[in-house]
Amino acid sequence: MASLPASTQQLAITAFGEANTLQLQTSVLPEPQDDQVMVAVDFSSVNPIDAKTRAGLGWAAAQNQNNLPWVPGYDIAGHVAAVGDNVTHLVVGERVSGFIGFPLEGGAYSQYVNVAAADLSILPDNVSLQAAASLPLAGQTAWQALDKVKVNANDRVLILAGAGGVGHIAVQLAVAKQAQVFATGSADNQAFIEQLGATAIDYRQGELMEQVEPVDVLIDLMGGEVGLAALAAVKPGGRVVTIPTITADQVCQQAEALGLRAEGMLVSPNIEQNNAMLEMIAQGQLSVEVAVTYPLAEGVKAHQHIESGRTRGKVLLAVSNT
Ligand SMILES: NC(=O)c1ccc[n+]([C@@H]2O[C@H](COP(=O)([O-])OP(=O)(O)OC[C@H]3O[C@@H](n4cnc5c(N)ncnc54)[C@H](OP(=O)(O)O)[C@@H]3O)[C@@H](O)[C@H]2O)c1
Repeated sequence: MASLPASTQQLAITAFGEANTLQLQTSVLPEPQDDQVMVAVDFSSVNPIDAKTRAGLGWAAAQNQNNLPWVPGYDIAGHVAAVGDNVTHLVVGERVSGFIGFPLEGGAYSQYVNVAAADLSILPDNVSLQAAASLPLAGQTAWQALDKVKVNANDRVLILAGAGGVGHIAVQLAVAKQAQVFATGSADNQAFIEQLGATAIDYRQGELMEQVEPVDVLIDLMGGEVGLAALAAVKPGGRVVTIPTITADQVCQQAEALGLRAEGMLVSPNIEQNNAMLEMIAQGQLSVEVAVTYPLAEGVKAHQHIESGRTRGKVLLAVSNT
């Protein structure tokens, strides 16, 4: 292990506030422990939770308020740089991806990171590092949301924000289950949503209940007023999962008052789900859209992009060329 890097570049939240509180830093990098792998990260992805935490909102921010600078990010794809003594199924140079440090540790905005070998997926040959970095948090959220509301063949499923990071994967997974899928987006995203296999609904063209017959299932990726308004489009007794945690209680209470079954959720890292979706990508059954890629050093722009609320697919950070 003599040639391993002793330090790593990272992009850290130095104080809670605007995106420009993100700054590059250099940190000491220990050798991987026996059950760990050191990953040379090629790409990390940016999720809305990263920006919310940077702004000082939510649980990860509360738990880390006395722990700044703190390195955000949960999605990595890269190459194995070194393996710990107990690791037998991964070799140096292998392409891997993972959903790491969720929710309190983060750490994916790093050139190198030590990760439990058990948390890493091996990439199929024809899956790009960009797709693999886009997938973990967003894909597992989409998968677990569909599981929560038990999406089945022939269910009529309405997905709010069907063009976003989670939404564009949720649409494809629901279509793969042979559900009848409706998804909201702006005029700019109608063709994209249709191409994913859903009926696109332009949320600026009037109330959803006037644009779609009542649905069995609502997957709410917006929350707040948008999520509350969408409840009117669900059949009596229908199932609702509301994903943004900050408004989940409010949406669930109103849903229950309307006679719907509603739950919030917090995604939980699951390597089997990651492996299954990587295989779907390899087989051409799932695709991941990358809206834009910024170098790690331009993470400020990446956060501003995700905070626009207009991302189609995912925002990536190119880490290795920092
Ligand atoms: N609880 C959990 O474990 C968990 C996990 C993952 C994500 N989340 C949360 O889930 C939410 C979605 O995450 P994400 O990564 O998918 O976000 P995202 O990628 O930032 O979503 C962007 C999308 O939202 C769409 N959008 C904006 N306003 C809309 C509206 N009024 N109606 C319909 N679509 C609209 C945009 O489409 P247009 O440009 O066409 O408007 C854009 O494509 C975030 O709040 C995130 O924090 C929670």
